[in-house]
Amino acid sequence: MQINSTELPFSEDLDMNGSLKEFLLQQQIYRAAIKEIKTKLEILDEEFQARYDHNPIHHMEYRLKSPQSIAGKMQKKGLEITAENIRKNLTDIAGVRVICNYLHDIDRIANLLLRHDDITLIRKNDYINEPKKNGYRSLHLIVLVPIFLAERTESVPVEIQIRTIAMDFWASLEHQLKYKGHSDISEGLRERLKYCAESITRLDEEMQMIYEEITTNDCDQ
Ligand code: GTP
Ligand code: MG
Repeated sequence: MQINSTELPFSEDLDMNGSLKEFLLQQQIYRAAIKEIKTKLEILDEEFQARYDHNPIHHMEYRLKSPQSIAGKMQKKGLEITAENIRKNLTDIAGVRVICNYLHDIDRIANLLLRHDDITLIRKNDYINEPKKNGYRSLHLIVLVPIFLAERTESVPVEIQIRTIAMDFWASLEHQLKYKGHSDISEGLRERLKYCAESITRLDEEMQMIYEEITTNDCDQ
């Protein structure tokens, strides 16, 4: 996913409302918020590597919600599409996905990030301890990060999804089924996906234990 993937197919409508300029500035602010979170997480990962010889983060992905998705979500919420309404009502325009190597890395990363004085947690959905009915697992945080502009400071919401490689593997397939013309997922497929989600839960737990045994043995030698 690219940070700067911002086509503006409905820019003319916004222009007619006289808010195109404000919309573009807002997009730049959301991109800045993604950069801030990305940098903070990279620094944490590098410190971990230096200190414990372990990278909690496997990789990260970023996305800025497309104008079409923003419009769709606003319509769903029954709200008029104005820059102000968007700013006040959508907290997932800036998105960061953190893919971790091991299960315990998820809480570790979340807790370290939330310790930063300039980060404010506004929502936490723990779909790991309480998975969704379909089997979806991930830790979701919505945080506010301050962006220092020439004339003011803005608190910008960023949605952070933290999950293991295995959880990400599952979510990608489930997303594909849901959104790529398979809107009517059969009960059979649903059951098989749920079964995969349960297998992945066991796999993540077992991998965590093996990793701990290997690293403890390393320390003993
Ligand atoms: P949205 O309106 O979809 O943003 O949901 P929400 O505001 O209720 O938040 P939630 O934390 O449930 O989901 C936010 C995002 O997490 C979604 O946009 C997806 O990217 C991801 N997500 C949530 N549930 C699922 C799921 O069941 N399957 C997959 N593949 N992704 C999910
Ligand atoms: Mg969303």
